[in-house]
Amino acid sequence: MKVLVATEKPFAAAAVEGIRKEVENAGHELLLLEKYTEKAQLLEAVKDVEALIIRSDKVDAEVLDAAKKLQIVVRAGAGYDNIDLEAATAHHVVAENTPGQNSNAVAELVFGLLVYAVRNFYNGKAGTELMGKKLGILAFGNVGRNVARVGKGFGMEVYAYDAFCPAGVIEQAGVHAVKSGDELFRTCDVVSLHIPATPETRGSIGYDTVGQLKKGGILINTARKEVIDEPGLIKLMGERTDLKFITDIKPDADAEFAKFEGRYFSTPKKMGAQTAEANTNAGIAAARQINAFFKDGCTKFQVNK
Ligand code: 3PG
Repeated sequence: MKVLVATEKPFAAAAVEGIRKEVENAGHELLLLEKYTEKAQLLEAVKDVEALIIRSDKVDAEVLDAAKKLQIVVRAGAGYDNIDLEAATAHHVVAENTPGQNSNAVAELVFGLLVYAVRNFYNGKAGTELMGKKLGILAFGNVGRNVARVGKGFGMEVYAYDAFCPAGVIEQAGVHAVKSGDELFRTCDVVSLHIPATPETRGSIGYDTVGQLKKGGILINTARKEVIDEPGLIKLMGERTDLKFITDIKPDADAEFAKFEGRYFSTPKKMGAQTAEANTNAGIAAARQINAFFKDGCTKFQVNK
């Protein structure tokens, strides 16, 4: 079988070598399309392959139409909002993700960004510390749980809300469970977003929600840009000159946010999962899932059931 790794933002070289070993040891052939800039390149590359490994690369109906032999696409990562799941099902293509494989990297970046923010982006002025502050985690999945672990290491008081988390899981992690997202925003000094982009969450974090943060509050987003109501947040930051917004996903209105000098920072490119370890974990998991699919028909991580 031909397995294509198609990554606009490439994996670390060590991860690609790990993927190659997995794929070739299973008797398959590895093809690479890295740093592509045009969709046409992806459409051409998928023509002849049975399996596809991607990151945030968009796999829509057009890509699936072009991939006549495709049987499985694995998103090496957690969020799979970049795959058109209905189209995948219609094309009889199994879509999978690799949950948990890159979550520590994202959690570490949360604190990298947070320290940068509370120390005033290293401008020389006295900042504040994280110890003793209240950290709110919105969604207690793999990333949220790692954020809780690291937050406790910083001596923060950690709170979480997750509408879908089984009862008791948050408390068992030594974290205060609150009853709603609103309560989380009202309670905490910092709120870190870990919700996926779904019809329910899109645009859900805006004027009213974030406006509940205490004086000097910080919103940090390492999840998806779509969950932010950008006009609402811009309006709020115009009114509340004490608030900071730190993001790993450049908003559409980046230039507008950039006017809030000293209160806004965006990484130039999403960096949360961009470590050698996360790339290797997620990439190798993807390769193994593909091998298991071809060997035994295993679809354990299928997301388009
Ligand atoms: C994920 O959903 O796994 C993360 O957002 C990482 O995305 P990336 O592979 O595009 O960096």
